[in-house]
Amino acid sequence: RDKLPEYNTFKDAVELFRKSKNILILTGAGVSVACGIPDFRSKNGIYARLHKDFPELPDPSSMFDIDFFKKNPAPFYNFAREIFPGQFTPSLSHMFIKFLEESGKLLRNYTQNIDTLEKIAGIQKVIECHGSFSKSTCLSCKNEVDSEEIREDVLAQKISYCKKCKTGIMKPNIVFFGEDLGDDFHEQISEDIDKVDLLVVIGSSLKVQPVALIPFNIDPDVPQILINRELLPHYQSDIKLLGNCDDIILALSMAIGGEIKDEMVQELHKRVITTSNLET
Ligand code: OAD
Repeated sequence: RDKLPEYNTFKDAVELFRKSKNILILTGAGVSVACGIPDFRSKNGIYARLHKDFPELPDPSSMFDIDFFKKNPAPFYNFAREIFPGQFTPSLSHMFIKFLEESGKLLRNYTQNIDTLEKIAGIQKVIECHGSFSKSTCLSCKNEVDSEEIREDVLAQKISYCKKCKTGIMKPNIVFFGEDLGDDFHEQISEDIDKVDLLVVIGSSLKVQPVALIPFNIDPDVPQILINRELLPHYQSDIKLLGNCDDIILALSMAIGGEIKDEMVQELHKRVITTSNLET
């Protein structure tokens, strides 16, 4: 993909956010790191730790491999409580996406994350490409329940069995390696791909397909921005903004101005703890 000559700088990024009306935001684990959820592939990420804690795993990502899970769900259940929803608050990056949506600029947020923080932030135009923890299904009888029903087992690090058939293993509705992404992903992306006027990748290594292919499948004249801690050697966006995504998003919001800036300032105010709102 040839670089679009006119877009390179932070200022260009601000202009693009101001003028675009159909922004596609592709997010990965990096947007939830500030919330306390580690990413997968960084030095201190989930895979590095799994490698140490579960040497029996053929590969750290086997924990999310459907064939491995069917044979041995214990490592997944040992680990799942760390990322189980209900313990985390959306980051400034999630809130920025919500504010883009409110100002009519968001085409769609494609998230690879399973932490449900987009929905908690109130984003409606979101596709959870890799599913989420919100529901769980019995591998044997296919009984589907709200994941609140497996919370106790997850928090106790116990394998959760189906309350209906009693023997089947419960699996959160996350897309494991070896499983297809849902129809909602395939249908929505084929509709959105021709509408997008700005693509923004935030906090992803773009290593897992098919989501990682999205930037390569849109019209090469559509500008692309990467907001990430590191460069991605296999992906050339027009603009690269490197650092912690919340810092970059905050700087962008202030520079974009208007509603987005006002909303972000209000969000920051909500996050300030003063002695008057501390519980005594
Ligand atoms: P990765 O862990 O592969 O990549 C996270 C990216 O975010 C890396 O490039 C980090 O440098 C960057 N990053 C980390 N913290 C950041 C921060 N505060 N600000 C900006 N960037 C930051 O995670 P994903 O790309 O999301 O699948 O991984 C894709 C899929 O692989 C996941 O959805 C998961 C995994 O296997 C399932 O859970 C099914």
